Amino acid sequence: WSDGVAKVDGVLTVAGESVVDLAAEFGTPTYVVDEDDFRRRARAFKDAFVGADVYYAGKAFLCVAAARWIVEEGLNLDVCSGGELAVALKADVPPSRIGLHGNNKSSAELRRALEVGVGRIIIDSVEEIGRLRELTAELGVTAPVMIRVTAGVEAHTHEYISTSHEDQKFGFSISGGDALDAVRRVVAEPGLDLRGLHSHIGSQIFVTDGFEVAARRVLRLHAEVERELGVAMPEFDLGGGFGIAYTTQDDPSTPADLAGNMLKIVADECAAMGIAVPHLSIEPGRAIAGPSTFTLYEVGTSKSVALDGGASRRYVSVDGGMSDNIRPALYGADYSCTLASRASDAPAVLSRVVGKHCESGDIVVKDEFLPGDVAAGDLLAVPGTGAYCRSLASNYNHVPRAAVVAVRDGEARVILRRETEEDLLTLDVG
Ligand code: LLP
Repeated sequence: WSDGVAKVDGVLTVAGESVVDLAAEFGTPTYVVDEDDFRRRARAFKDAFVGADVYYAGKAFLCVAAARWIVEEGLNLDVCSGGELAVALKADVPPSRIGLHGNNKSSAELRRALEVGVGRIIIDSVEEIGRLRELTAELGVTAPVMIRVTAGVEAHTHEYISTSHEDQKFGFSISGGDALDAVRRVVAEPGLDLRGLHSHIGSQIFVTDGFEVAARRVLRLHAEVERELGVAMPEFDLGGGFGIAYTTQDDPSTPADLAGNMLKIVADECAAMGIAVPHLSIEPGRAIAGPSTFTLYEVGTSKSVALDGGASRRYVSVDGGMSDNIRPALYGADYSCTLASRASDAPAVLSRVVGKHCESGDIVVKDEFLPGDVAAGDLLAVPGTGAYCRSLASNYNHVPRAAVVAVRDGEARVILRRETEEDLLTLDVG
């Protein structure tokens, strides 16, 4: 839960607003963002990583309001598509504070980034070097670039969000020599200004050894480039991926702990290799956005099923599901939830909270003990849905995407409005 959440006589409140009032005003399902919490987590990274730039990874959750919060708290913004870049520009994020990622950026996306003058482009393929050569020549500009490298570490996380082992699509392999080859190609391009190397090992990572091993391996390459190619690289990016608590079993590190470890490793390693410490940057997304938000649902139906051995499980259906949170279905992600609209003394029963979509994999919370009297009309709140829920939302079953409401100091405002069926029909031009 975010810092601003409390329960008053069984009713969940956030920054002084009751969820009963929020549901009445904005409907359900709704993502409710505790704006101060989002800002505080952004600031915590900025304060902990002293002297470094913090690029918020917009893929976790992005809209104009969130982009403004990021800038106001002193962070930069990482975007990974033309669409995310468009949001950043609409929010008036200074282009010099934007970094562009992507393993297959189109020429149109690169062109736009160069035209507005983004602060850095993180190169991910040989083809991209060619595209940038042509575009920088045509536009008469120099592109500040970094090279994304693969350190060959196995991050302890779900296979789909692990990105630094060799057998996946991102980056240039260090051990295979591709990374050094990419450096040579980039420095040979007059239109490209190589700022440094970039490494991102994956997402929702708790075991920090992976970050440490990756930092060491990439720094070794950094030193080799500086020494043997005589190319100064002033910057170094350690990526994001810092895990958050989805359930009480998870035990995440604080930004201060992460900074303590990582800044020391970089300093020690550079001293050992006799090179200057480069200007560092990191790219947290989930750890800033994730805990700031809960999803508010209304219960529609419930039923009990008998399990082998005589136990039973209650299925509680809510008015959203895999269209607003695909993470349980995609990554087997675990969430928790609470009855948010009233107190209950009813004994807790094993419950599975499910959505309204036409699939049995449409699970919101796999196992939760909810009061046995939870019934239609009750509100349930699922915490930790600020990252990769709205940004991965779909219109499956032609369900309009949910609204995002930000609450601060007892004031609630829509920052992304709910889609309507009309919005969806507008696209249907057949
Ligand atoms: N930097 C790069 C280059 C990335 O690819 C990512 C995430 C981040 C930073 C931010 O990682 P974070 O700090 O948020 O973990 N949809 C998945 C997560 C995909 C992450 C993709 N890249 C999920 O819901 O778990």
